[in-house]
Amino acid sequence: MNKKIFSGVQPTGNLHLGNYLGAIKNFVELQNDKKNECVYCVVDLHSITVKQDAKILKKNIRETVATFIASGLNPDKSIIFNQSAVSAHAEAAWILGCVSRMGWLSRMTQFKEKAGKDKEKASVGLYVYPVLMSADILLYDATHVPVGEDQKQHLELCRDIAQKFNHDFNAPDFLKVPEPLIQKQFSRIMSLKDGFKKMSKSDPSDFSRINLTDDKDLIINKIKKAKTDTSPMPGLKDNLEKRPEVENLIGIYSSLSNQKTDKTKIEFEGKNFSFFKNKLSELLVEKIDPIAKKIKDLLKDESSLDKILAEGSNKADNFASKKVNEIKKLVGF
Ligand code: AMP
Ligand code: TRP
Repeated sequence: MNKKIFSGVQPTGNLHLGNYLGAIKNFVELQNDKKNECVYCVVDLHSITVKQDAKILKKNIRETVATFIASGLNPDKSIIFNQSAVSAHAEAAWILGCVSRMGWLSRMTQFKEKAGKDKEKASVGLYVYPVLMSADILLYDATHVPVGEDQKQHLELCRDIAQKFNHDFNAPDFLKVPEPLIQKQFSRIMSLKDGFKKMSKSDPSDFSRINLTDDKDLIINKIKKAKTDTSPMPGLKDNLEKRPEVENLIGIYSSLSNQKTDKTKIEFEGKNFSFFKNKLSELLVEKIDPIAKKIKDLLKDESSLDKILAEGSNKADNFASKKVNEIKKLVGF
């Protein structure tokens, strides 16, 4: 089946190994399958659900595009654009917000996590964030949405919204109900400091993550300091439930080398950690350092990045404005 792919990444800076292995690497593989049509969006409207500095936001939008391109996305093969440049996203989000139920949104665990203890102070935007995400997806008739495990609940909400809209406006199959594409392995890359916490750009410790802009020395240093334990490297039979940091490093190694974790376990069974960490650093440097260098190069030419976004936004607008007009017609506008 030909797949229509849509996914988004927030331009909040510090894109890291979790974003790469959990999302972007997969975006590139999907793009390189000629049967797929792919749309990848820098979701800048989503990023302002928490306070942003205007100058830094602008820089982060460019850095996210640069990361896409440096990782292998190609604007001749995929539509690459930023969300705020295509007004249909905000328009559709309003209409879909009127179809969505408070009860559905109040179940979203990401809102609860992000809003923290003081929900009263969270922005309304943060609460309705998953509705905008649904608009993103539904405007392009996306059939498949590659995301990390943390976005699964938002995808389920998107499916509910699509079905309710189709039902309420008596338009069977009008909004296409999308499938999440969540990798079976490596969909949750964990912090280098705490194997129970997701690797995240908001973690105050830079040593908890490998940023896609880290240079060789920093990568080596971060892996040297990554948390492990005193037992030797595990084999196939060992239970890793109580050794999440070890499991995570094995996962990172396996994902970067495109091999099953079992193969990695067999490769390193019984070895000490410094041996494994050296190999892991070498592999990370081999894969990440060229991306980091390319990002730096691309960022030197801001106008080329802006041009990629402008051209991508034009192409995206062609799809999205048609769809939002059909939505408006169905609603009665
Ligand atoms: P975000 O940075 O939150 O916009 O996330 C962009 C994409 O990266 C989403 O598909 C996330 O699910 C994915 N992602 C973010 N952090 C991780 C992680 N630690 N492990 C795997 N995937 C992640
Ligand atoms: N909410 C997603 C995240 O934080 C980003 C996102 C916005 C997205 N719109 C999307 C992902 C549409 C997939 C499809 O990671």
